[in-house]
Amino acid sequence: MYGTFFHAPTAGELAVLENRLILVDEAGVISAVLAEDDPAQATAIAALGEALVWLPEGQFGLPGFVDLHIHAPQYSQLGQALDAPLEIWLQKYTFPLEASYADLGFARPRYEALVADLLAIGTTTALYFATQDRAATELLAEICMAKGQRALVGKVVMDDPAGCPDYYRDESAETAIAETRAVIEHIRTHPANADGRVLPVITPRFIPSCTDAALDGLGKLAVECGCHIQSHCSESDWAHGHVLERFGHTDAEALDRFGLLTRKTVLAHSNFLTDADMDRLAARGTAVAHCALSNVYFANAVFPLRRALEKHLHVGLGTDISGGPSASMFEACRTTVQSSRLLEDGVDPTLSAAERGTAGSRIDLVTAFHLATAGGGIALDLPIGILAPGYRLDLIAVDTMAEEGTIRLFGETHPQAVFEKILYCASRANIAAVWVDGQQVC
Ligand code: GUN
Ligand code: FE
Repeated sequence: MYGTFFHAPTAGELAVLENRLILVDEAGVISAVLAEDDPAQATAIAALGEALVWLPEGQFGLPGFVDLHIHAPQYSQLGQALDAPLEIWLQKYTFPLEASYADLGFARPRYEALVADLLAIGTTTALYFATQDRAATELLAEICMAKGQRALVGKVVMDDPAGCPDYYRDESAETAIAETRAVIEHIRTHPANADGRVLPVITPRFIPSCTDAALDGLGKLAVECGCHIQSHCSESDWAHGHVLERFGHTDAEALDRFGLLTRKTVLAHSNFLTDADMDRLAARGTAVAHCALSNVYFANAVFPLRRALEKHLHVGLGTDISGGPSASMFEACRTTVQSSRLLEDGVDPTLSAAERGTAGSRIDLVTAFHLATAGGGIALDLPIGILAPGYRLDLIAVDTMAEEGTIRLFGETHPQAVFEKILYCASRANIAAVWVDGQQVC
């Protein structure tokens, strides 16, 4: 593929790859990135002939986005029911909706629309919570396989009668673990998944929905199968307080004691992490999925992202559909920047400037973009999010001249300015094409 590309291999540093030729092998792994002044570029272009894909004038290539936290079944209530606190929202709206997905005729069109829409807006990798139901979880994984999205899919474990309604609950810890095991097997051996683009994930929903037996069993299953793990951690005052009351220590410590913090664990939100929690996550290589927009609605806090980065935590960005009412990872980048500014400057105008904020909290746009791409790849321990040899070619072409799009350049050509316009202004109509593993999927 030939064109001009933007990526951010490290936080805060934009790399512009101007007039480069990206070569991929048969598996979709980048084998070389050749510059214009490299004689090998002209030779390779000649050798490729008709097979070469050119990004037309006005189009720029970016690594595909990694949505590090998304609830697939909640897409159908996107934009609804955002005024209730988390514990009410779950019981009144979200559990009833998710329970309906056990009817596969209900689930299929909704999951198909979700995966198609996510690819069309540039999400090439998604770490999904599905539902408690095994068959519906497998259906989501199969739809990702059919549409070519890189996906990590988890059957949601929720077995505690104290936290989950009768109509939407695993029968027991044993059945929850057995069903999780069955989904892992199904995804790993599915004939349409020979390339392993879809991966299974051990998914205790959050501590308030799980018994100790389930948490313990899932920790042991993780050792046995080496899967990714995902959960929610210290999201809101209520969720954080529940764990403190039940165990006498924090979410992060409790999950760790059950063996659930590994190099392949992603914890959503994690707003109330203590310094010791952050050290614990850093030592385990466990990542945080920062969900800035959802946190506005349900968290009662802004995640201290700068502090986490200073402690060398792995962090990526998540939409947390439908806690966050936007499926767009461009939007996730924007809200990450915006909420960090509110944290830095404070929000109470009755306090003086010196008193009201948390100094040093700002996140710049390039760092947000880094987290939404390379950061997600690091969090998942997958070679994605960077346009360099050894990484998979997951790419979006952004058309800055699309008539129906929302980017207007007015002759602007400076790469940094073009990048900023793309990140802040792009919408679906600006995404001209999407590739996963070098194959066009949209
Ligand atoms: N905590 C447990 N389940 C959920 C969920 O579906 N969304 C959010 N935002 N938090 C949760
Ligand atoms: Fe969530």
